[in-house]
Amino acid sequence: MYQYDSLLLAPGPTTVPRQILESMNQPMTGHRTSEFSQIIHNASRDLQTIFGTDHPVAILTSSGTSALEAAMVNITNPDDHIVIIVSGAFGDRFRKIASAYPFNAHIFEVEWGNGIDLEAFETYLKSLKVDVTAVFTQFCETSTSVKHPIHELGRMVHQINPDIYFVVDGVSIIGAVDVDMERDNIDVLVAGSQKAIMLPPGAAFVAYNDRAKTRFGEVTTSRFYLDLNKYITSLQDDSTPFTPAVSLIRGIQTYCDLISEEQFENTIKRHELCRNAVRESIKALDIDLLVEDQFASPTVTAFVPKKEEVKKIKDELLNRFNITIAGGQQHLKGTILRVGHMGQVSPNDMLQFISALEIILSDIRGESVLGKGVSKFQEVVNQYV
Ligand SMILES: Cc1ncc(COP(=O)(O)O)c(C=O)c1O
Repeated sequence: MYQYDSLLLAPGPTTVPRQILESMNQPMTGHRTSEFSQIIHNASRDLQTIFGTDHPVAILTSSGTSALEAAMVNITNPDDHIVIIVSGAFGDRFRKIASAYPFNAHIFEVEWGNGIDLEAFETYLKSLKVDVTAVFTQFCETSTSVKHPIHELGRMVHQINPDIYFVVDGVSIIGAVDVDMERDNIDVLVAGSQKAIMLPPGAAFVAYNDRAKTRFGEVTTSRFYLDLNKYITSLQDDSTPFTPAVSLIRGIQTYCDLISEEQFENTIKRHELCRNAVRESIKALDIDLLVEDQFASPTVTAFVPKKEEVKKIKDELLNRFNITIAGGQQHLKGTILRVGHMGQVSPNDMLQFISALEIILSDIRGESVLGKGVSKFQEVVNQYV
């Protein structure tokens, strides 16, 4: 028997709020009915605030990777040159997608854990002696917990050449961050359902501007299920081209209702508070953070315990306290731990994590650190409320 309720603090999937679960549990409805038309109409439009766009957001029945692939194959023609910023496992995902198509991908590598160096990227982009169609990047690179300076990057790409499309993977940050596609010069912005948008996995989102929409209609790259023109055309009739995840789309409506009740700017602040409190507490426990403050994501934090502490912390959080966090990916496996703080999380949830971490560390280190992280956490919270 567990003494503690389960606390899911992985960087996705995240806890699904009770109201969303209940709305997803409604009796099934046909997807070619007026009832469903109303649901998809509301969902695709209500999401606009979250994505910072004035176009209805396309909703795909598939995981986040499908939206990455859709963005790439609808923007890129065969033989086009594209630039992919690879700063972790999900930049690498973009690279792998590109390698499945006849595209020329130029990779700008960023050391894992670092944010993009804007000057270095500017020099790189200007040095390419080819016409670049698009630049692809993560907003938050979930594998390292870096938030890239998307606004500055978008402005720079636009200044270098306004014809270049700027495509942003926001899978692990949209719903927790201020974004405005026009202000930030983003042409295509994708996300997934199971992170800050706090739905179960299974839906992916593509937001686009006018320029991108026109481009989708011109590109000749072979595609069928991921042809975004189909989704956008169907949306004009409040419909979807294929059988959609009806229950998830009901859930989106409820998600948007919850956010409008909280008010999105408060949702953003809540995520920032959780990040700041978690980071300061982890520092107070003498554990290194992987990412500098200026690049710290509001949705996930990567920390670097001593090598021999890594497995024990993750296992004991789960086995003793019923708290799930995540390990590192690829070469960071066994080196870092990642705690998610996105979606339905409150500072109190994160405080439980810090308090459990203190108990575990005190055992491992053979000396008490009780209260060190918690009091720091309280200090940070106190500045906000
Ligand atoms: C930034 C980012 N991009 C893409 C993906 C892939 O999404 P999915 O696993 O839903 O296909 C993830 C998943 O964690 C992610 O964090």
